[in-house]
Amino acid sequence: MHENLETMNAISEKERRLSLKVLKGDIYLNDQRLRYSAEGFTSFKYVITQWKKKRIGGVTFKGVLDDRMLQEFVYTMNSLPDWRDENAEKINERMVYHEIHSIEVIPLDENEDDDEGNIFQKEDQKVVAKKVFFETLGTIKEVITQIKQKQYPDVRKLKRLAQTAVRLAMQDESILLGLTTIKNYDEYTYNHSVNVFIYSIAIGRRLGLSKKTLTELGITAMLHDLGKSRVPREVLNKPDKLDDAEWDLMKKHPLMGVEIVLNLKQLGEVNPHIVIGIFDHHLKTDLSGYPRVFRKKEPSLFGRIIQIADVYDAMTTPRVYRKNSYSPGQTLALMLKDRESTFDPALLKIFIGLVGIFPVGSLVLLDTKEIAITYKANPDPELLDRPQVIVICDNGKEEVKKSFADLSELDSAGGYKRSIVKALDPNKYHIDIAKYFICPILPDDKDNTS
Ligand SMILES: [Fe+2]
Ligand SMILES: [Fe+2]
Repeated sequence: MHENLETMNAISEKERRLSLKVLKGDIYLNDQRLRYSAEGFTSFKYVITQWKKKRIGGVTFKGVLDDRMLQEFVYTMNSLPDWRDENAEKINERMVYHEIHSIEVIPLDENEDDDEGNIFQKEDQKVVAKKVFFETLGTIKEVITQIKQKQYPDVRKLKRLAQTAVRLAMQDESILLGLTTIKNYDEYTYNHSVNVFIYSIAIGRRLGLSKKTLTELGITAMLHDLGKSRVPREVLNKPDKLDDAEWDLMKKHPLMGVEIVLNLKQLGEVNPHIVIGIFDHHLKTDLSGYPRVFRKKEPSLFGRIIQIADVYDAMTTPRVYRKNSYSPGQTLALMLKDRESTFDPALLKIFIGLVGIFPVGSLVLLDTKEIAITYKANPDPELLDRPQVIVICDNGKEEVKKSFADLSELDSAGGYKRSIVKALDPNKYHIDIAKYFICPILPDDKDNTS
């Protein structure tokens, strides 16, 4: 490290500053592209990958550096979590705290993600996705608890999580979608909010919305049922039918959600799309539903997207008053029946394309007599019945064995190697679908989906 320091100080002295930047997969030293030898290529790529992981776009060193400064910088950078946009800001704050004014970091330019293609490795993505899921779950819980206790919640965290999720969805939506199979009806509202958030981002992405709009949509989806924090638990979890007064209160949750969001000062100037999206997420396309509106204007785009995600997740999740949920396929069939009056038909079509006829997380029987779980929808609309699947073998013990198969794969005779015979009910087979999405792949399994 000391030798490096001397070289750095020499350059810095000669040129008055030393800046390193990542630009289009190359490193620039004081705006000159660094050349590297074949042997240096691996370490060069390593630096770029590490910086990208830490979301750092460049570092400027001004004046003379000493060991302590450099050590503090390296230590801070390594101690930060990966894939966080706020890392650069955090390093700078840390440097000021240690009275180091000669090191300054800039965040990674958003466009850097795209030109390298898949910077998230598949396993990395799974880890990040899982983290985003559970952190979002925890943060929504925190926000609701703080609101109940009349404190100001930290909603900036929600925004950061939404940004990370949007980036993940850009890379591989199936990994995020897989997480929605985690169904936990004890913590229904939190879990449901995260699932609606994931589905909404995925629909928005297929619509080609910008990253900024997707982030706003994500925040709206996370907060869509915030108003339920003002509905008593006994009403929310009532196993019997709600009486008129309880139902009236329940129907107020979109409006109460709007009221709460308008009071969340940290969101800054509250974006009207977020407010309207929360307001009309139960408003059907024929303007029935609630809250009652008198203006003849269709529900907002955010509202229409969230409505689809909301109904789909609610129907596929077991509840206290409905122990067995609908299967993904049954749910889609029921939603299609209502498509004219309730849902935006074009958006519903996009959603079905996204989850497939056998949506991600369906348990299916194959003609090979194997049981499988759908993992990723086939991108070809002609092959919606040929998703990628996880063929499972549950030995009843802790560990889960799985291998991947692509149902569009042909055998030597030109026929399909495997086909779906029918959907099965996971409750009957006592199969915990989520287990297959969040368990690591066992070493002897090969992943032929990547
Ligand atoms: Fe709702
Ligand atoms: Fe909801």
